[in-house]
Amino acid sequence: MRSKNTTPLIAALSVAAAATLILTGCNEASAAKPAGFTPQQMADGLFVVMSSDRAVYTKQVVNRLQNEEKVIKASEHWQDEKGLPLPAQMFRMGAETVAGKNPGFTYSLLSLWPINKQNAPKTEAEIAGLKFISDNKGTTNYYTEEVLGGQKYYTAVYADVAVSAACVKCHNNHDDSPKTDFALNDVMGGVVIRLPLK
Ligand code: HEC
Repeated sequence: MRSKNTTPLIAALSVAAAATLILTGCNEASAAKPAGFTPQQMADGLFVVMSSDRAVYTKQVVNRLQNEEKVIKASEHWQDEKGLPLPAQMFRMGAETVAGKNPGFTYSLLSLWPINKQNAPKTEAEIAGLKFISDNKGTTNYYTEEVLGGQKYYTAVYADVAVSAACVKCHNNHDDSPKTDFALNDVMGGVVIRLPLK
């Protein structure tokens, strides 16, 4: 059970170094071998990959095509409007696809003030983590362990900050947003990464 859960985690983490590995010609097997990551290193590495992907999608796809070249818009109703999914929607679809593959870990973008109620915290650790990162203005990550359904997990929570006026504007004006006074640099929510422990 343990190695079944651990191996895909290591494989996933090695994606973090994928660019380097590809450039240097190392294969995945040699990257996974020395491993010995702590749960925190594993979670931090996964977070670097997912936050980088989201930043690149936001900058190189949404911002470039919508705001600079003005060829297509990003919209919550992207299917009906033949637009681009919002970064948060891309993130959730990615997380759902990962969950469907059952790699042993899960992740999600949650908030104490979610537009999509599916993104509300469900466990005590999620609620405590979101409160902690918000109280600390996103300067410190939150790490804890929790037991769910008899399984022990390492749970990490990373702040999601209103880095641009667009974040604040869209959320404050959204009909389904329970909070309408977000300000620039506020913590709007957080990424929760959950790894199974032995
Ligand atoms: C054009 C509108 C829009 C913009 C701009 C936008 N969001 Fe969102 N955001 C949404 C919608 C809609 C959802 C719900 C997505 C889903 O279905 O999971 C969401 C989801 C989220 C969530 C998960 C909790 C929730 O509210 O459901 C967080 C956290 C979040 N956004 C933060 C941000 C941040 C930070 C930025 C800026 C970098 C940003 N958003 C920009 C519309 C927007």
